[in-house]
Amino acid sequence: MHSRELGLVLAQQILGVDDLHYGLWDADLELKLTNIGIAQQRYTDFLLATLPQAEPGPVRVLDIGCGTGHILGQLLDRGYRADGVIPSPNLAKLVRQRLEKPPGNQAQLFECRFEDFPADDHAQHYDVALFSESFQYISMEASFTLLQKIVKPGGLMVICDFFKTEHHGDRGAGDKSFGGGHQLADFYRKIKTTRFVPLRDEDITKRVSPNLDLLNDFLLNTIKPVGLSLDRYLSSNYPKLSWIAQKLMRKKLVLKLKSSNNRSGSIFI
Ligand SMILES: C[S@@+](CC[C@H](N)C(=O)[O-])C[C@H]1O[C@@H](n2cnc3c(N)ncnc32)[C@H](O)[C@@H]1O
Repeated sequence: MHSRELGLVLAQQILGVDDLHYGLWDADLELKLTNIGIAQQRYTDFLLATLPQAEPGPVRVLDIGCGTGHILGQLLDRGYRADGVIPSPNLAKLVRQRLEKPPGNQAQLFECRFEDFPADDHAQHYDVALFSESFQYISMEASFTLLQKIVKPGGLMVICDFFKTEHHGDRGAGDKSFGGGHQLADFYRKIKTTRFVPLRDEDITKRVSPNLDLLNDFLLNTIKPVGLSLDRYLSSNYPKLSWIAQKLMRKKLVLKLKSSNNRSGSIFI
């Protein structure tokens, strides 16, 4: 797990927020951790507004890499026929709990990597394939091959994610801002070889990047001191256990926290 995801996962677990994405932070929203749920809902609304109207449907949506299932739940609430794909067993448990709530919904949860999605059983089945901060984890070749099979002709692919720009690796201000994502130029080149044509291309970096500062601050000024206090407590009360834990964890944690020093909203452009 990259330190940027560690921040998101910890925020989700500690603050009890529902999503695993960064949210949209416009100037009117104060940059503080307790506003993360509001920022995330703004992002979800923004994303779902790109979809065709649910009525008079049915509009079938596949939420690929559906995280905790919060967006999937909102799709169902808004009248879409939505299914999810999730490879993580822990997240799948959360999604299943969420799907139990509206009784009788027909959503299917595919507990697998998208690469292993049963595409032959769902040929030209979906009107929309949705990737919310999940496209980067899947090879583009695999995604495009599957999407051309399962999305109906005239259907949509909606991707909202991080991409590496031409600054990646040049050691300038735009470099090191973020570790993940496919190369944007590579994406544009590969998409031309598919039957998908771009309809909308929007850079929302400035609206998302404030959260990098926030999560950086959260990791360094909240999580790290808590970790050190726990470490001190274990060392004085359970020295043997602490020694084993240190052997197993210290190197990895220190490296992760250090690498997050490199990142800030100002260089994420
Ligand atoms: C940053 S989270 C985003 C979650 C959710 N879409 C959201 O917006 O809150 C990335 C998601 O991608 C999923 N993922 C990672 N590798 C995947 C793969 N190979 N196929 C499908 N999903 C994947 C993870 O399990 C996780 O749920």
